[in-house]
Amino acid sequence: MRSKTLAFLAAGLGTALTLTACGANQATPPASGGSSDTASSGGGIPVGVILPETATSARWEGFDKPMLEAAMRAKGLDPDIQNAQGDVQKFTTLADGMISQGVKVLVIASINSEVGTAVATKAKARGIPTIDYDRLNLGGSSDYYVSFDNVKVGELQGQGLADALKDKPGAQVIEIEGAPTDNNATLFYNGQQNVLKPLYDAGTLKLVQKQAIDGWDNQKGGTTFEQILTGNGGKVDGVVAANDGLAGAVITVLRKNGLNGKVPVTGQDATADGLMAILRGDQYMTVFKPIKEEAENTAALAALLAKGDTAGADALAKQSSDDTKANRKVKSVLLEPKLTTKDTVKEVVTQGYVKASEICGGDLAPVCSQLGIS
Ligand code: BGC
Repeated sequence: MRSKTLAFLAAGLGTALTLTACGANQATPPASGGSSDTASSGGGIPVGVILPETATSARWEGFDKPMLEAAMRAKGLDPDIQNAQGDVQKFTTLADGMISQGVKVLVIASINSEVGTAVATKAKARGIPTIDYDRLNLGGSSDYYVSFDNVKVGELQGQGLADALKDKPGAQVIEIEGAPTDNNATLFYNGQQNVLKPLYDAGTLKLVQKQAIDGWDNQKGGTTFEQILTGNGGKVDGVVAANDGLAGAVITVLRKNGLNGKVPVTGQDATADGLMAILRGDQYMTVFKPIKEEAENTAALAALLAKGDTAGADALAKQSSDDTKANRKVKSVLLEPKLTTKDTVKEVVTQGYVKASEICGGDLAPVCSQLGIS
């Protein structure tokens, strides 16, 4: 059982620092994915969805929200999708509101396991089934979980970095990890270590320092990276950044030091900003998680649960995830993430997640035409 936690990484550099304010990645609506305007509102079974944040990744508002909306409408549901903006109080208030509105199912992508668990407990007491969405609440009580194979996500990041540094024996690596309170961040870290630890142990790569970033705070990721870089005499050969938002903050610091494009950086979420950084050569890879499939599986599960069809739901959620705190298995749908480098950015466009026009402007126009992205 690989359940190291990121908590130990959180100590140390976690204090607030003020240096560069790096542009947070911006949410860009996907080319596909419907909107509530197109569907007849008012009809369907009421379902509540609470998303965790906006600033930690462009995915939540840019991909998850419109894709969940479209998938749920297609299943005859009437979704109320809200974002807690990283505020646990707001998360709770939103949940209370949805529960008293009489939603038939509650889908939660929680800010941390405590608030997610508290909400699931309340819903359960009212007979409302809950689905953990993307992030598993440790110690929680949801009967179902829909996400990606998150250890695999980390392995793809580790593999990406190892590939990029294969001709640089002894390359020095800095790891900027996600929030210690997000079980996914722990799984990403564990996956990365499956690939990188043997390389560190053999001296093929050298770990300078690893640091978890509270709340996936992109700006804090940048300032923390800058501190580590300075502490290492300005030397770095590769960076594990747990998602595209953190990668963007790291790249801002690298650029300040004339190192962007020379130091491979990993990412995740295939955001427009991340893809542009890849096309520009500043970021080596991202992990493309087909969120449309995550949304569609969640909608299918919610539709079954709303009708009390647990046999149908169980047939859909055939995989299982470990809740290491409650020591239980949670029925799951775990989808496959994909490694995306410059050569495969096109796939994210052809699948409708971003439009060529969003990522191919200005200096990137010739790069896109060379790669056949239009
Ligand atoms: C998600 C990532 C996202 C991160 C920050 C994780 O739980 O799986 O896709 O980048 O949270 O929002």
